Amino acid sequence: MPTSLTATCLGCGREFRTEQVLLLGQTFAAERYCELCRAAEEVAEEQRLAEVRWARVCVPGGYEQCTFENFEPAAGTTTAVEVCKQWVKEYRAGTALRRGLLLRGRPGAGKTHLAVAILNQLVWSDHPRSALFVNVPQWLDALRESYGDGEPPPAPSGFDVLVLDDLGAEDWSSPWTRDRIYQILNHREQERLLMIVTTNCSWDELAGRIGGPSASRLRRLCRDVDIEARQDFREVLVERNAA
Ligand SMILES: Nc1ncnc2c1ncn2[C@@H]1O[C@H](COP(=O)(O)OP(=O)(O)OP(=O)(O)O)[C@@H](O)[C@H]1O
Ligand SMILES: [Mg+2]
Repeated sequence: MPTSLTATCLGCGREFRTEQVLLLGQTFAAERYCELCRAAEEVAEEQRLAEVRWARVCVPGGYEQCTFENFEPAAGTTTAVEVCKQWVKEYRAGTALRRGLLLRGRPGAGKTHLAVAILNQLVWSDHPRSALFVNVPQWLDALRESYGDGEPPPAPSGFDVLVLDDLGAEDWSSPWTRDRIYQILNHREQERLLMIVTTNCSWDELAGRIGGPSASRLRRLCRDVDIEARQDFREVLVERNAA
């Protein structure tokens, strides 16, 4: 039967009881850190792993703090916020969602903010999902540059959720661009993977830019969510900073 001994915690210096271990005729404490220090270490480790997961999502620094909590109830945005919250709630609860969301609205409506709020909830979770944030024009530029000797941007395959930010704002006149977009959407559809898309474009504009086959896939992949914000929130922020 194991007996216990009093040991001094290497973390906080407090004394605590632990089992004693006999090894080669010598007595050792089974634990070198007290229960409190071990619990604190576990929390710190969980936090560290979550930070590593979050860094892999590649959210731009200026948007990292975007959450549902700091999304202010701006006129015309209530329904879209509720749809986004419900979507992420169902996904986190394990519902097999068939479609992601296509957030459409004018510049400054809060589309990217809401997309990142969703990512925050998916990644900082007890059952985290893998996700990647891709700003489409920047990602395409980075990919093009990497054909020289640059570092390629992260490949968007293999993530549970992919955010395609600002779809339709890319240089859509080039067949190369259309082909890259097609490859991404086709892969998401084939693998039944979820996507959140943000765009300023109407369906007709988007179909004209990304091309019919991509638009058809996108319709199947995402449910339309119009954000009918009455104001460009960037203007609100500029006025606040000026005040
Ligand atoms: N309702 C809101 N409450 C708080 N911050 C907001 C709200 N709406 C937008 N913002 C902030 O305003 C800025 C612009 O919003 P965001 O980038 O999400 O707009 P957008 O719809 O994606 O615009 P664009 O079409 O130009 O990309 C961001 O800093 C965002 O955090
Ligand atoms: Mg945006």
